[in-house]
Amino acid sequence: MSLVEVRNLTKVYPIGESIFGGGSHGEVRAVDDVSLTIEAGETLGLIGESGSGKSTLGRLILRLVEPTAGSIRFAGHDLRTAGHLAMRRMRRDMQIIFQDPFASLDPRLRVNDVIAEPLLIHESMTANARRQRVAELLHAVGMDESAGQRFPHEFSGGQRQRIGIARALALRPRFIVADEPVSALDVSVGAQIVNLLARLQREFQLTYLFISHSMPVVRYLSTRIAVMYRGQIVETGSTEQIAEHPGHPYTKTLLGATPEIAI
Ligand SMILES: Nc1ncnc2c1ncn2[C@@H]1O[C@H](COP(=O)(O)OP(=O)(O)O)[C@@H](O)[C@H]1O
Ligand SMILES: [Mg+2]
Repeated sequence: MSLVEVRNLTKVYPIGESIFGGGSHGEVRAVDDVSLTIEAGETLGLIGESGSGKSTLGRLILRLVEPTAGSIRFAGHDLRTAGHLAMRRMRRDMQIIFQDPFASLDPRLRVNDVIAEPLLIHESMTANARRQRVAELLHAVGMDESAGQRFPHEFSGGQRQRIGIARALALRPRFIVADEPVSALDVSVGAQIVNLLARLQREFQLTYLFISHSMPVVRYLSTRIAVMYRGQIVETGSTEQIAEHPGHPYTKTLLGATPEIAI
């Protein structure tokens, strides 16, 4: 059984709807009949140009966006028919890391509280146990415990992304959607974050959907790669197969268009 099983997933957004009630002038099929599986412990790289539907697909899988059609199974459970309690349980198992760590962290909270927030919502722990867990998480992402007393804006982009990762790990999830987690960072800083994600995957037995528009970045981390174009998966294969012997013309364009970066 795959950890994630997506069948015929579709998300349609109406476009051109007039605020004066002129009605809908069309629709965008952000995700169009996508089927894929993600095995426990692997990284599925999802690559495609901007607007191809990558973020929508990631959010659909986490049920942050409601599908127009299709199904998502997580660890064998159908997410659409899961009851409130089962869904609450599964939410802990599935987390997201965003592209822009700054926008995704509450600037009014100290780092300790940013990381502790999901624990407050989902876990009944003593304050002491929570402090302990936050310290462990900071350590796991390579930050000093004293960082917890400071505010997110006091940190660089790379450090903020580490804070975002610590927060995503707080509930000990099994599955993480990393939505362009290094796209806003300098190449060398991005490489450190990619290495951190690889280490955390081994340490915490994580499964990733790793979204990026950059083949060198996707290639470094992924077991398999799915190529997305205009809402559809046009090609899926092992990392080697996609990067060395792309079958689809669009994949060839992606390979040609991305400059090599040093990881
Ligand atoms: N909330 C939304 N409302 C309307 N259109 C949307 C919404 N979210 C995404 N889209 C559209 O869906 C398509 C796919 O977007 P997105 O999933 O963000 O692509 P990517 O992450 O690959 O850049 C784009 O055309 C985008 O404009
Ligand atoms: Mg996106």
